[in-house]
Amino acid sequence: MSAKGWPGVHRIEHPLIEHHLTVLRDKQTDSEGFRRALSTVATLMVYEATRWLETRSVGVRTPLGPMRGKRLRDEVILVPILRAGLGMLFPILDVIPGARVGFIGLKRNEISLAADAYHDSLPRSLRRHAVLLMDPMLATGGSALAALKLLEGRGARRVVLVNLLAAPEGIRAVRRQHPDLPIFTAAIDTKLNDKGYILPGLGDAGDRLFGV
Ligand code: PRP
Ligand code: URA
Repeated sequence: MSAKGWPGVHRIEHPLIEHHLTVLRDKQTDSEGFRRALSTVATLMVYEATRWLETRSVGVRTPLGPMRGKRLRDEVILVPILRAGLGMLFPILDVIPGARVGFIGLKRNEISLAADAYHDSLPRSLRRHAVLLMDPMLATGGSALAALKLLEGRGARRVVLVNLLAAPEGIRAVRRQHPDLPIFTAAIDTKLNDKGYILPGLGDAGDRLFGV
């Protein structure tokens, strides 16, 4: 179900997510604790964020006989936006071990807040893939939009965006260009400050995750 007032934005609510999100927000949490909590939240979110994946019927033989089971129909590709998206990658890969992984490297310019692309390793075509684009932070939306442009350029047709925290400004920016893109997030915060940080947020996700 969509978050109230935000069509197409799915706020994933769960007591464990709230708990670990608070650990992430706490400025006393060190990098080790931050990595652990982000990994846990990503694991909890993936269950809802992948509900749209389609399955196909397959034959399987249990030790007691044959039956019809289900396997994922499409090839899934996980695309973390570097750096902070890396904190969500491995827990999600653990539950979709057959997924491929493509990377998009983006860095926000601290003054203009524009996202500069410095790396991409995506397959030539994404036409047939189910794509999970992941980044803990959706602030101005500039990074998500730059990543979505790259994915579109490779023909991606089925994409969802998975964030930990989203700012209203970022949601609106993404919605304007991608009205049908599903966005999954654990929280919608209040607003951005004048440096483009999410309030109350959790600070700089990449720095907190990697300690630099
Ligand atoms: C942070 C964050 C997002 C981006 C969000 O990355 O991880 O990618 O900012 O902001 P936006 O919505 O305004 O574009 P940053 O550019 O700081 O790079 P990092 O992950 O390497 O620290
Ligand atoms: N990027 C972050 O890491 N944190 C914010 O609050 C905004 C962008």
